[in-house]
Amino acid sequence: MSNNNPLAVVILAAGKGTRMKSDKPKVMHELLGLPMINWVLNSVEQLNPDRTIIVIGQGMDDLAAAVAPHETVVQITQDGTGSALKSAMGALQDFDGDILVLLGDTPLISLETMSGLISARYQCAQTGISVLGMYLDNPYGYGRLLIDNEGTLQDIREEKDASAEEKQVNIVNTGAFCMDATKVNDWLGELVNVNASGEYYITDIPEIAARKGVKTSVAVTNNPKEVQGCNTRIHLSELEQYAQVKLREKFMNEGVVMQDPSSVYLHHDTKISSGVLIEPNVYFGKDVSVGANVHIKAFCHFEGANIGDNTIIGPFARLRPGSEIGKEVRIGNFVEIKKSQIGDRSKISHLGYVGDCTMGKDVNFSCGAITVNYDGFDKHQTVIGDGTMIGSNVNLVAPVNLGNGTFIAAGSTITADVPPNALSVERGKAKTIEGWAAAYRKRKGG
Ligand code: UD1
Ligand code: MG
Repeated sequence: MSNNNPLAVVILAAGKGTRMKSDKPKVMHELLGLPMINWVLNSVEQLNPDRTIIVIGQGMDDLAAAVAPHETVVQITQDGTGSALKSAMGALQDFDGDILVLLGDTPLISLETMSGLISARYQCAQTGISVLGMYLDNPYGYGRLLIDNEGTLQDIREEKDASAEEKQVNIVNTGAFCMDATKVNDWLGELVNVNASGEYYITDIPEIAARKGVKTSVAVTNNPKEVQGCNTRIHLSELEQYAQVKLREKFMNEGVVMQDPSSVYLHHDTKISSGVLIEPNVYFGKDVSVGANVHIKAFCHFEGANIGDNTIIGPFARLRPGSEIGKEVRIGNFVEIKKSQIGDRSKISHLGYVGDCTMGKDVNFSCGAITVNYDGFDKHQTVIGDGTMIGSNVNLVAPVNLGNGTFIAAGSTITADVPPNALSVERGKAKTIEGWAAAYRKRKGG
């Protein structure tokens, strides 16, 4: 016997997820911005199976789109996990090999754990099924693995159907099975729905198989967090926390420094190079990459941004989609950047807004300067040449083009292009009245 048999993976994902109190299918809820079902698929792809089939419910078009180009089958009535597997078997009639059944609401299962489960299916000649079990201090809600004194699995009992004594059992079903494909239809044919839920349970299969002389081996995972199921929004938040911890650890192992990892929120696609220092309370949204040795100070928020090597950002900086930040750039507190390229070594050190802008290298964009990019209807571009010095509190009214090396005087509102190396100043004339303040105070009795 070998475990190099053809492998089909069936992911059960048709459930409505009533306990989530949500309009969308349960497996479409996201962890780190990626739907649960795609986490499962990412793990499954590492197994390189011959077939991958996702069981979905009727009308779950978003789910079918999220798993494309993988094959889907529709379970017409959501009457249990056994019935869901039956729906998939329609597409596996001639398949001869192993069927790895996974639950779509158990998203963080790893390659090692799946491989261990598949190996356990070959424990001995009589073993036709393996089930992935785990020990839990609080097994509430999970099916209990009923194992006899010889260590043989007799049955799996669902929470709702368990006696008080059975509820004490703390080794439970994670929901993942590996089955001999040639026998599955035979076992499924004997499923009945005589139980507390009135559903066809996949968990009845080991008992049916045992009656036919086929054993179920139990592969026990030593990492229960990885196979925690998601039935409620609280479970979802627990899984999110676990996935965050794993991703933070990956980055720290690759040379990223996090002063308070628990306060750094990552997206599943975040890219961070080695030598990056991240202070507490930093949020990474979709599509962010951070170059080597960047220093991210506390309380920054990033989405859709590429940050070049050796740049220093924050505290309290916001990069919005389309932010292309060069190398050795300095972005200080209360600066917002959107859809803009910032050239190497440029400085936007305090209180600024840069939107729809191409900023050259070595620009100094002083405190309170902003691009005025929106006229109430359309967005317009600002182009700032290399080595430009933009004074404090400047409004650059787009579309506007500042040549290389220009000086823009503090307080100016610039509405026309400025040629290279020119000074542009736009200010009301200052008027000084000697003694006016003293006279005013006297008048007021101050
Ligand atoms: C299930 C198991 C339980 C196990 C637990 C692990 C059964 C009867 N119970 O319980 O032993 O401890 O998972 O997390 O299998 N689904 C369908 N079609 C259906 C019903 C469900 O595709 O008709 C899918 C759901 O989308 C979900 C998965 O199967 O991804 C599990 O269903 P769920 O209702 O969450 O089962 P649990 O109560 O968690
Ligand atoms: Mg579940």
